Amino acid sequence: KIIALLTGGTTNEWVISVKSAATIAHHLDTDKFEVYKIMLTQQGWFYEPADSVKIEVDKNDFSLHFNGRKVTFDGVFIAIHGAPGEDGKLQGYFDMLHIPYTTCDALTSAVTMNKGYTKAIVNGISDLFIARSMQLFKHMPVDLSSIKEELTLPYFVKPNNGGSSIGMSKVKNQYDLKDAIAKAFKEDDQLLIEEFISGREFTVGVVKLDGKIVVLPATEVETAKEFFDFDAKYTPGVATETTPAPIRADTRARVEKIATAVYEKLNCRGVVRIDFILTGDEGDFYFIEINTIPGQTATSFIPQQVAAHGMDLKTFYSKLIKETIS
Ligand code: DAL
Ligand code: MG
Repeated sequence: KIIALLTGGTTNEWVISVKSAATIAHHLDTDKFEVYKIMLTQQGWFYEPADSVKIEVDKNDFSLHFNGRKVTFDGVFIAIHGAPGEDGKLQGYFDMLHIPYTTCDALTSAVTMNKGYTKAIVNGISDLFIARSMQLFKHMPVDLSSIKEELTLPYFVKPNNGGSSIGMSKVKNQYDLKDAIAKAFKEDDQLLIEEFISGREFTVGVVKLDGKIVVLPATEVETAKEFFDFDAKYTPGVATETTPAPIRADTRARVEKIATAVYEKLNCRGVVRIDFILTGDEGDFYFIEINTIPGQTATSFIPQQVAAHGMDLKTFYSKLIKETIS
């Protein structure tokens, strides 16, 4: 099969996307797949077979001319975090061209890119708790006093359509709220103000392989910082990540059931990763967010969890492609 591996993108998560694509490219089975890595930039979409050789993709039919022939693709492996890979835009484009891809469909990608809308959908899943929150829109006046009345400090202020904690702040003091809102509005014109939930932080990969939903072993994340921010996410040693997470068997069974229900309710495809906070002594699971294109860098959670599941990445990516692109 001829596969396009898409990377780059138009948000500041593109750096992570390039690293994710590098891991994927390294582990794709070259006996089964002929792989073309294509970089999406503001300037265009390019296949770069060698240094300083750029072949532009024909967007009319997503093809390229290389070595005297026209290359078309059997499927696309999307490794772009944020826009336009995780937010449904590329999915809609490939749907129109009838080219299958590895991720959730356009609707699920678009909805899950928005933290506020996603919470509204997963609300009601049994055993899953949701932090109280408010959504703000840039074009509407911000009433700081109504936030204070409705929500209890501390808050997280997040761009509604962001990733990797960019533009996010933890607000402990009412006086810092205005600055946190301004910072988040720099990244997005919608934001979410959410009550802080104190507890242990977990993230868990979910994937459909061989027709069955598999919940990968959860990872517990501990950081000495106020929260798992961009630095903690991508600087080795700043956070401690334990896979499989040290939780009781009944807690593990509970998170597996909840994660499966979230995957099903959002009609997911491919591999996703769901973040939770567990309160108290293995108390309640709070939903934080879902990433439909989770990081695949060498140190990311999904590669760790796939290894803990007892599978090598080559098999994992082959099965993922088989499941989504056949
Ligand atoms: N948004 C980053 C890449 C992640 O969820 O892994
Ligand atoms: Mg995220």
